[in-house]
Amino acid sequence: VSLKPYNSFAIDVNAHYFAEIETENDLNELFQNPLFSNQKRLIVGGGSNILFTQDFDGLVVKMSIKGIESRIEGNQVLVTAGSGEVWNDFVNYCVVNNFAGVENLSLIPGTVGASPIQNIGAYGVELKDIFENCAAFEIKTGQIKTFNFEDCQFGYRESIFKGAFKGQYIITKVTFRLSSQAQLNTSYGAIEAELQNRGIESPGIADVSAAVAHIRVSKLPDPSTIGNAGSFFKNPIIEKHEFADVVAQHPDVVHYPTADGRIKLAAGWLIEQCGWKGKRVGETGTWKNQALVLVNHGHASGTEVYQFSEQIIDSVKSTFGVTLEREVNIL
Ligand code: EPU
Repeated sequence: VSLKPYNSFAIDVNAHYFAEIETENDLNELFQNPLFSNQKRLIVGGGSNILFTQDFDGLVVKMSIKGIESRIEGNQVLVTAGSGEVWNDFVNYCVVNNFAGVENLSLIPGTVGASPIQNIGAYGVELKDIFENCAAFEIKTGQIKTFNFEDCQFGYRESIFKGAFKGQYIITKVTFRLSSQAQLNTSYGAIEAELQNRGIESPGIADVSAAVAHIRVSKLPDPSTIGNAGSFFKNPIIEKHEFADVVAQHPDVVHYPTADGRIKLAAGWLIEQCGWKGKRVGETGTWKNQALVLVNHGHASGTEVYQFSEQIIDSVKSTFGVTLEREVNIL
């Protein structure tokens, strides 16, 4: 099976075996199949955070469990969505029903089931801010377990599903705690500016969602026309004394304090300063409006993209002394 339709980088590699899961029962059946325990496994949602550098010589499991339900609890609303729901369809459902909390996460590629794994985030909001719990199938036992907020150990683009429990669970549904009384978060500069542009003084949920969508479309390449996996690297978080060295040599370095007293640098800025923004090398390169995003201009191999990312890491290291870490999963 070609995996090209199943990864947003549009890398053309093959999987030895492929299964699509539409219900929890499909998962139970797959669990009985010897292939499931014998083979190397890869669980995919939207495939929007993966770079394939070779064929996958095992079983790819594509999660397509659908369905969205909501339950009002006073001023709050609990919304449960199947892991295979497209993330932005879920966001639109919430916006249309006037459930506040996810509007800043409009237009993020991928699926609901993948969202807790790397604690997706954008424009001042992270998944963990609205996460209630998730159900996950334990690969070893075939049992469904519930993970609440503490269990997930969320961090910046991190969770237990990427850490200690990597490869051990398959998320089947996620429940979010949203608000039926809008408490909007428009403090992110770009949102404020976009709302002002539109002449909107007291925005609603739909206004914020539309503003975010507009910002994303203007900055980020559309994976349906140009292959990419969003930010390729994380924004590096460094210690205060390391920051002192960086800022001494580069006084205009873009940075933000973190809650734990460290400093987060803007990786896109670091990469741009090294001269990579909009550069094309063969079939790969960085995006013209956002240097943190690596793209496939059409026929890139995963190895080509990976090698290009190595060049960027080396270049940022030698200019700033800072080591970039990949956010995308390399396979
Ligand atoms: N910048 C540059 N040059 C660039 C790109 C960015 O100078 O080429 C500067 C910007 O001017 C700005 C700063 O870097 O001062 C931050 O840029 P931006 O607001 O675009 O956000 P980001 O830090 O590059 C992060 C997330 C994005 C998310 C945006 C918006 C990570 C790794 N990335 O990017 O998430 O959409 O914030 O909140 O945290 C993703 O994870 O795939 C993703 C797209």
